[in-house]
Amino acid sequence: MKTIFSGIQPSGTMTLGNYLGAMKHFPKLQDENNAYFCIVDAHAITVPQDRLELRKNIRSLAALYIASGIDPTKATLFIQSEVQAHTQLGWMLQCVAYIGELERMTQFKDKSAKQGNEGVSAGLLTYPPLMAADILLYGTDVVPVGDDQKQHLELTRNLAQRFNNKYNDIFTIPEIHVTEVGARIMSLQEPTKKMSKSDENQKAFISMLDDEKKIEKKIKSAVTDSEGIVKFDKENKPGISNLLTIYSSITEESIETIEARYDGKGYGVFKQDVANIVIEALRPIQQRYYELVDSEELDDILDHGADKANKEAMKMLRKAKKAMGLGRIRK
Ligand code: TYM
Repeated sequence: MKTIFSGIQPSGTMTLGNYLGAMKHFPKLQDENNAYFCIVDAHAITVPQDRLELRKNIRSLAALYIASGIDPTKATLFIQSEVQAHTQLGWMLQCVAYIGELERMTQFKDKSAKQGNEGVSAGLLTYPPLMAADILLYGTDVVPVGDDQKQHLELTRNLAQRFNNKYNDIFTIPEIHVTEVGARIMSLQEPTKKMSKSDENQKAFISMLDDEKKIEKKIKSAVTDSEGIVKFDKENKPGISNLLTIYSSITEESIETIEARYDGKGYGVFKQDVANIVIEALRPIQQRYYELVDSEELDDILDHGADKANKEAMKMLRKAKKAMGLGRIRK
């Protein structure tokens, strides 16, 4: 049995990109693997957060995980800050990482380029060693994520390897697993940029909790081109290609099948169908979400998840401390 681990930041409501790139694939994985799903709140505070909003988002994300099919009797769902081994091992891995390699991470470069080094937190720079700690604490074999996390995963593998060589061979080197279709859902307004929950333009992303009217409106106003042919061509038709990707990753039909279906039909018909498909996919998730989000059941699930994760994580933390020489030998 393999161990899988994935995490999502509770920063704003989840987008259709998070769902199709990550969450949608999780339920399939929990049956045959020892699966951990984490709400990475310590990562969220690397950028400014409103405390009340953050708390709300943590709960909301937990409910969305369950509503999208995570079964707490099969998988372990927990909040990162409730398992302290994460930040402890995160610190130790910061001491294994080099400043240079952290500065080369595109996520850090993008954010610090916008705001300058005085405008971003040190946590934003040391974000990847914390992510490595998340993964390495559980002896993770496979990490299912969207395309944008590849670089962080590569660094995780390097840090694990470096630690194993320098101290003791305790960490499993994790593999990345990116699903082909849906790995990168783009903005509806600027389809050459990834769909992001932090986009200032609300029309650029679909939230998993948007109502039907909003979804329809956003998809109908998605930026396309004037050719009028439903065809996948990322370079010249990024908007239509993105809508095809969304369609295909929900229905699990091939892009060719969908192209053939809309042969000779205009964008209006196609967009309406994409909207309907998205609405249908999100409807049962939203229903279950509203039942769960304010329930005690959700607290019980998270308590149980934290207990289980704590037990596992402590075992690895002890090994890592011993390997690095932290703490003391009892006399
Ligand atoms: P985050 O919170 O940005 O995104 C969560 C997951 O959603 C995927 N994703 C997308 N997939 C397709 N298209 C998009 N437009 C899109 N936007 C986001 C991401 O690839 C991710 O799988 N660093 C991570 C969180 C993290 C983590 C971990 C992940 C912390 N520790 C350990 C895996 C393992 C992040 O910021 O994801």
